[in-house]
Amino acid sequence: MSTPAYDPFMAAVVEGDPNALYAELRSSTPRLFIERYNAWFFSTFEDVWNLEKERTLSVANGITPTQLLLGAPPNPFMVSQMEPPIHTPFRAALNTLVRPSVAQKMEEAMRAEARALLAPIVDRGGGDLLMDYAGPLASRVGCWLSGLPLADSPYLMRTINQFFHRDPAKPGDTGVGGQAGVELIGYITNFLAQVRAGRHPATGSLGVLLDEQRTDPSITDDHIVFIVMNVQIAASDTVPKGIAATFHRLWSNPGEREKLRAMPHWTLSSFLEAVRIDMPTQMQGRTVTERLEFGDIVLEPGQKTMFMFASANRDEAEFDAPDLYRIDRGNRRTLGFGNGLHRCLGVHVAQVEGKVAIEEAMALLPGYTVDLAASRKHKTEYVKGWSNLVVTIQ
Ligand code: HEM
Repeated sequence: MSTPAYDPFMAAVVEGDPNALYAELRSSTPRLFIERYNAWFFSTFEDVWNLEKERTLSVANGITPTQLLLGAPPNPFMVSQMEPPIHTPFRAALNTLVRPSVAQKMEEAMRAEARALLAPIVDRGGGDLLMDYAGPLASRVGCWLSGLPLADSPYLMRTINQFFHRDPAKPGDTGVGGQAGVELIGYITNFLAQVRAGRHPATGSLGVLLDEQRTDPSITDDHIVFIVMNVQIAASDTVPKGIAATFHRLWSNPGEREKLRAMPHWTLSSFLEAVRIDMPTQMQGRTVTERLEFGDIVLEPGQKTMFMFASANRDEAEFDAPDLYRIDRGNRRTLGFGNGLHRCLGVHVAQVEGKVAIEEAMALLPGYTVDLAASRKHKTEYVKGWSNLVVTIQ
């Protein structure tokens, strides 16, 4: 089989549905080297799963397609772009905010937020489950985790949406997105000053990092600002896409929706299955630091390795009938949240949040219908998924 024409920035990938192309890559060229990017693209589950654990591949040159393939600079202050030994204490400190027992304790508060957000949607006979429900819910949970003020959650949601702005005429991040990033940095820096002045309590990641800074002078204000930003962005962007994908998949698979109605204990699984089949993060990558023999190829220092999560999550070698949405799939392994040292920090919170968001909506708008003509998708080479999911209820 010949290698299909593939480029992560091509319109068919960014704007269309790349899954058929990913399937061709998996069967023809699962380890594809693209010269102009000096990068390997790995599309199978097994390769991505194993390479995620490979310690000679580094995040220190960045992880996003714009950074690794187009040369945008890394950000050494973000936890996602730190290597051990620097990564270790930051990650340990942040883990205290998101471990399973702590995530579980957020459940009732999440439920109250979810009900409050659903009430006007029910009153109006429908609404946008992304912009009016999953988005605000995730942004508010993001504020609990980051320590930024709840009152500013609408501003944060708006600015973070802009951060992922794309221009069809230009690959990768845009000036509009960059401007949103600069604004967020200024906003968090200012908020940090207010916390220090005693005008706001120090909570969430901001509180944890300020505590750490008292005993560890190597922690700078840049670390605090960028980690708070990292947490708020990561918590706000992917969760709503996973929740909206679940609502869309349940609606377009009435048999699965019936199954869930009859067996509500599959709710978490219905969310995880949507994250698998509609993986919000298309790909992330690393840089090779030491020569590495990997099966039939050799990775050379300086080359990039791109982990094609969206393709890996539909690999027929790992998942039976991978293009089918099945809420009771029950796979033990998933790359929905990555793997290895940089596995998603918020995985336990995301799971409680997804389960709560779906349970509450299924209770309050059980017969919803998706209005596809009014719904929109976010089209980028990096994060993909619903940007508006409009539903009506009878
Ligand atoms: C459905 C929701 C989510 C999805 C699909 C998701 C997905 C991912 C993925 C694929 C990675 C990269 C892992 C790797 O390289 O192995 C990641 C990392 C990360 N995620 Fe999530 N995520 C979600 C929710 C959250 C939430 C709620 C938070 C809030 C704390 C969060 C914070 C992070 C952070 C900070 C990292 C970087 C961790 C590190 O490098 O040590 N994510 N996530």
